[in-house]
Order: sequence, then structure tokens, then C-alpha cells
Amino acid sequence: MAKSLQNSLSRALIGVTVLAVTGCFPAAGGIPEPVSPSDLTRAQADYPAVTDVELAQGRQLFIDRCGSCHNHSELQAHSKAEWTPIMERMGRKADMSRAETALALQFIVSRLRPRQ
Ligand code: HEC
Repeated sequence: MAKSLQNSLSRALIGVTVLAVTGCFPAAGGIPEPVSPSDLTRAQADYPAVTDVELAQGRQLFIDRCGSCHNHSELQAHSKAEWTPIMERMGRKADMSRAETALALQFIVSRLRPRQ
């Protein structure tokens, strides 16, 4: 193999590796626990009308639609202010309707520590 081709191939490989290690893929968080009464209390601080059924639907959407391209994200890795635009982007990537995206976001917010 020509030396210059070899060089550019190894440069490409390094590039891919660096992206995989430092890249913007979410930290893996696994399948989240089922919705609990304390999740509902926390979520209602941000979304007064949200129900436990909606949180469970949001959890299911997150499980079904958010783990195909990358692992399920660690929910605590982002604040609510960060999750809102991320979910606009990822909801589109996951082919979710606005209503489905909103349900999944409410579920995520129910798992964030207070005052995030
Ligand atoms: C079609 C593939 C695909 C689907 C489906 C998908 N993602 Fe992603 N996600 C990506 C890619 C690619 C990136 C890295 C590039 C970027 O940030 O756009 C990413 C990045 C992320 C990040 C890091 C963003 C940042 O700014 O640090 C989070 C968090 C995330 N995804 C969560 C989700 C959630 C939650 C869902 C479900 C709604 C989801 N993803 C569905 C492909 C996908």
C-alpha cells in the first residue's frame, strides 16, 4: 500500500476514535426504573397537570425510541434547560410527534434532581 494512502487511512481511523471517545454521544444510563409516586410529585412542580399515566407513557417512549442509535442516555447528565433543545433535536431524529416528544421530556424532567 502506498505510504501516503496508509497515512491518510490511519489519520481517518484516529479521527473516528477521537470522535467515539470525546464525541457528543450521550452518556449511557440504561433502562430507567418504572415511574414512582415521588417522580409524579417532582414532575408536577414543572408540569402541574401531568399524570402518572403520562409519565409512564413518556418512559415507554424513551425506552422504545431513544436507544436505537446510541445507548439510553443518562438522564442526570443534563439539566432541564439543556434537555429541552436536545429533545427537540432527538425527537425529530426518533420520528416522534411533538406530543410524544413532550411526554418523553416530562418523564425525563421527573427524574432530574430538584432545581435543575
Ligand atoms: C436516528 C438516530 C438517533 C435517535 C433515534 C436518537 N438519537 Fe440521540 N443522538 C444521535 C446522534 C447522532 C447524536 C450525536 C450528535 C448530536 O448531538 O446531534 C445524539 C446525541 C444525543 C445526546 C447528546 C446531546 C448533547 O448535546 O450532548 C443526547 C442526550 C441524546 N442523543 C438523547 C436522545 C434521546 C433522549 C432520544 C429519544 C428521543 C434520542 N437521543 C434518539 C442519534 C439519535
